[in-house]
Amino acid sequence: MVRTLKGHERHGGHRAAEAGRASEAGPDEQVERRAPESPTDLPKRSWGAVLKGTLQEFKKDELTDRAAALTYYGILALFPALLALISLLGVIGESATQRVLDNIQKLAPGAARDGRSPVVWFPALPQRLAAARVELADFLRVSAGDLALVPNASAGASVVYAALTLRPGGEIVVTDHGYGAVTMGAERLARRWGGRVRTARVPLNADEDAAYDAVVAELGDATELVVVDQITSATARRLPVERIGAEARRRGIPVLVDGAHAPGLLDAPLADATYDVWTGNLHKWGCAPRGTAALVARGPLRERLHPLIDSWAAADPYPDRFDQQGTIDATSYLAAPTSLGFIERTWGWPAARRYMDDLADYGASVIGSTVSGLTGADSSVDVGMPVPGMRLVRLPDGLAADRIEADALRDRVALELGVEAAFTSFDGIGYMRLSAHVYNTAADYEYFAEECVPALGKWARGN
Ligand SMILES: Cc1ncc(COP(=O)(O)O)c(C=O)c1O
Repeated sequence: MVRTLKGHERHGGHRAAEAGRASEAGPDEQVERRAPESPTDLPKRSWGAVLKGTLQEFKKDELTDRAAALTYYGILALFPALLALISLLGVIGESATQRVLDNIQKLAPGAARDGRSPVVWFPALPQRLAAARVELADFLRVSAGDLALVPNASAGASVVYAALTLRPGGEIVVTDHGYGAVTMGAERLARRWGGRVRTARVPLNADEDAAYDAVVAELGDATELVVVDQITSATARRLPVERIGAEARRRGIPVLVDGAHAPGLLDAPLADATYDVWTGNLHKWGCAPRGTAALVARGPLRERLHPLIDSWAAADPYPDRFDQQGTIDATSYLAAPTSLGFIERTWGWPAARRYMDDLADYGASVIGSTVSGLTGADSSVDVGMPVPGMRLVRLPDGLAADRIEADALRDRVALELGVEAAFTSFDGIGYMRLSAHVYNTAADYEYFAEECVPALGKWARGN
């Protein structure tokens, strides 16, 4: 603060004396002597002047503007300072970084606290994903160290295909129940290395022994990979993946099990695993957000598995390197344990599975009997190794003779009847594939039987 001449005049000083002391700062001796020692020594009548003076000085020094500017610059400087701090802490180590991040999360307002700030979100993401993996591994009853997160079962298969080199003439064995897109990936892998795909034909009604024999019959010296479904998509049946895996392992052939439908539908789907790699969707029966799947890998192949997106954790071991995928949206992975936990808390998975299976039975009987009544032919299907929660009903002849027709039927039913239903095709025969989950009720299947089956009958007759 600058003392002004005007201020001295008001305190009764003499101009001449002041001029003589112009170079000396502060009040003269007389004033000093008379000055009160503390504010309480001030005579009452001075208080008004003190307050007035203080107010004038406050205004003259523009203290409100300075306070505002200080706050403004202080807040602006906060975030660069945090950035610098976090980058320096990175040198010390992850434990220090994490503590700072935890504290920022507690203190920071809005976007920063709930993680919308990229500065807060991305550095902490691998740790959050690792924690989610522990919960998901617990659900699947596998070790978290074996489980990597991938967006879907197709990606899980692609990860395996990308890791393999085939010898020229090398063979990949698949089955005719394989999921089309996954089989196409195997075909591309074979083409890339001058190899070929061999398809094991497994009759729909083949029991465990017959299915095992059909697959193992295709294994030979040239086999370099077996791709086999735990639960098939078009035919809603199981294949004996454990026995096939054991035989392939004995011969030194790696096996990829497509368990897309298994999580949630099967209790502990990997309990008896004998194979190297398994992939399964958590966004099907597990009800996780779309884009959540697990890849479980053991054995020598796993060290060669890398995420489809090269990112900063590329040099980390399996499965940690799957926890960084550039700026991909990983929220589905983080939410997956909540979805699984919701079903566990609300019904319990064993009870939920029982409900699904009973309801699928009911659905198949009510729809199947309506189709049979319409066509006069038996619509029930003899499925070897059936799965809980899914059933097939044979469609009237002339519908869904191949996959393209089955997809077209699905679209027509959605468009004209307002119902979402799954139609599949196997060996030239069309099926309705029924599924039941906790959100389905008997009324869903009764409605389809009453409202949709008559339309299917008409369409089969070409109307
Ligand atoms: C047996 C099987 N494998 C793989 C997939 C592919 O799953 P996604 O499209 O989630 O990759 C599916 C999807 O229905 C499937 O049923």
